Amino acid sequence: MKINIAIDGPSAAGKSTIAKQLCQKLGYVHLDTGAMYRCTARKALDCGIDLNDEDAVCEMLKNTVIELTPDGKVFLDGKDVSLAIRTDDTSMAASTVSKLQRVREDLVARQQEMAKAGGFIMDGRDIGTVVLKDAQVKIYMTASPEARAKRRYDQNIKQGIPTSDIATIAEEIRQRDWQDMHREHSPLRKADDAVEIDTSDMTIAEVTEAIYQLAVPFL
Ligand code: DC
Repeated sequence: MKINIAIDGPSAAGKSTIAKQLCQKLGYVHLDTGAMYRCTARKALDCGIDLNDEDAVCEMLKNTVIELTPDGKVFLDGKDVSLAIRTDDTSMAASTVSKLQRVREDLVARQQEMAKAGGFIMDGRDIGTVVLKDAQVKIYMTASPEARAKRRYDQNIKQGIPTSDIATIAEEIRQRDWQDMHREHSPLRKADDAVEIDTSDMTIAEVTEAIYQLAVPFL
């Protein structure tokens, strides 16, 4: 039987990287829920919609198709936006639209529908607490602010995404985490039954193996 695995945590803690590795090992599919908030923000920015106008953003979402492909690409209304949604302005805008309750309801419903069949590793901020409350394995992944800023910087360079320097990224991450942890609706927090993993001094292989071992009893 295929289970679902929930990975939550602050930005740039390594959630997506680990989820992808684990998917290869298990033959599961990665669902990056942050990409859905990023698509919402990107489209609102492009359409000139106020990111705090809940009615307008929700109305826009009604006519918005977001596709996450098994090979990790993100399509917004049929267009490949995999890289376009990774820019710094989109990151902050995604955190802003993610405060809106009805935006969350819309995207959470889509996520729950996608994960129905099992066999998914879903990463985000509210997966263990809201989206997949019954997930058999729940991880709360953290890393030191320094490690996270450095990772995000290296990732931007590697993927050819325009990037700020490490200090600016660290500040942006700090602001975004504060916003994500202090919002009214579904703030980022560790689910009571989640296992916390601090990845600061762990290799990708070590983190992947640690989560794999937690999943083994359910496979
Ligand atoms: O994981 P990410 O950095 O791509 O997510 C972008 C923003 O989207 C993040 O700052 C908060 C929001 N988000 C959320 O509120 N809930 C999720 N499940 C995933 C992301």
